[in-house]
Amino acid sequence: MTEEYGNKIERVKTYVQGFDEEMGGGIPAGHIVLVSGTAGTMKSSITFSILYNEALNGKNSLYLTLEQSQQSLLNHMSNMGFDLSKINLITMDDISKVHETISQIENSKGSLVITDLGAIRKQIKSMKDGPSGDWLNVIKNILIKLKKKTNLKCFVLDSLSAMYVLSDFKDPRTELFHLFEFFRDLEVTTFLISEMPLDKSKYSEYDIEDFLSDAIIHVELAPRMRKVDRNISVVKMRGTNCNNDIFTLEFKNGKFYALYGGKTPLV
Ligand SMILES: Nc1ncnc2c1ncn2[C@@H]1O[C@H](COP(=O)(O)OP(=O)(O)OP(=O)(O)O)[C@@H](O)[C@H]1O
Ligand SMILES: [Mg+2]
Repeated sequence: MTEEYGNKIERVKTYVQGFDEEMGGGIPAGHIVLVSGTAGTMKSSITFSILYNEALNGKNSLYLTLEQSQQSLLNHMSNMGFDLSKINLITMDDISKVHETISQIENSKGSLVITDLGAIRKQIKSMKDGPSGDWLNVIKNILIKLKKKTNLKCFVLDSLSAMYVLSDFKDPRTELFHLFEFFRDLEVTTFLISEMPLDKSKYSEYDIEDFLSDAIIHVELAPRMRKVDRNISVVKMRGTNCNNDIFTLEFKNGKFYALYGGKTPLV
């Protein structure tokens, strides 16, 4: 923990140009990051871009999409301009074949493993009469296996909100506390996507995710006259002296930019 006080902590970039520079180079590795925003604020695209760029840099990650199928997500990302042929992309259709997936992860190249609701559902069905809490256990087991057998660096849960619909939490506050403990012990940088209500009254469903998370990144739509921009800001980032100002988020030619007052911030 002492290195938390130094400058040498490992950081994971957001790959939003002009934004990483405002948070000491990126998110401290191992942090649990809540990515919160209303519908269509590019939460999936930003987090996918992080894992994609990490794969280009030789790092392994897992993207779990519970809101849309892996095919639909990959179509979207391909349309956005991410060249998927540049990374070792592994789609996991059947969770029970996680060992096959692990064998496809190459040591020489960064891999992005993507899996979805359908793949997990298959596994739950085969478990016969499993309670809905099994969703969480299946997800935890994949993470444990990938972490143990590969050098898993990042994980995206898209979304935490969808997971709430699937898992019937009897005591959400306690169960969430333990879930965050699990993510923390895993030592994998974790991005939890959180659907914000339209009135933007809270960052997450049960309010406690805010303080259980190490960082909160907020994305929002910002209507100005008839034009709608997107904004991005850091609400909090433990262990980091960061700029909490609101930046305009732009996406051009496959890259995200954080602009300040219509210009790239001076660094
Ligand atoms: N180049 C582009 N190609 C496709 N979509 C784009 C592009 N640029 C911006 N978008 C916008 O990205 C938005 C979808 O992004 P994304 O799916 O990442 O958002 P989200 O916050 O995850 O949405 P949801 O709430 O549906 O999960 C769409 O509203 C689309 O208009
Ligand atoms: Mg999304």
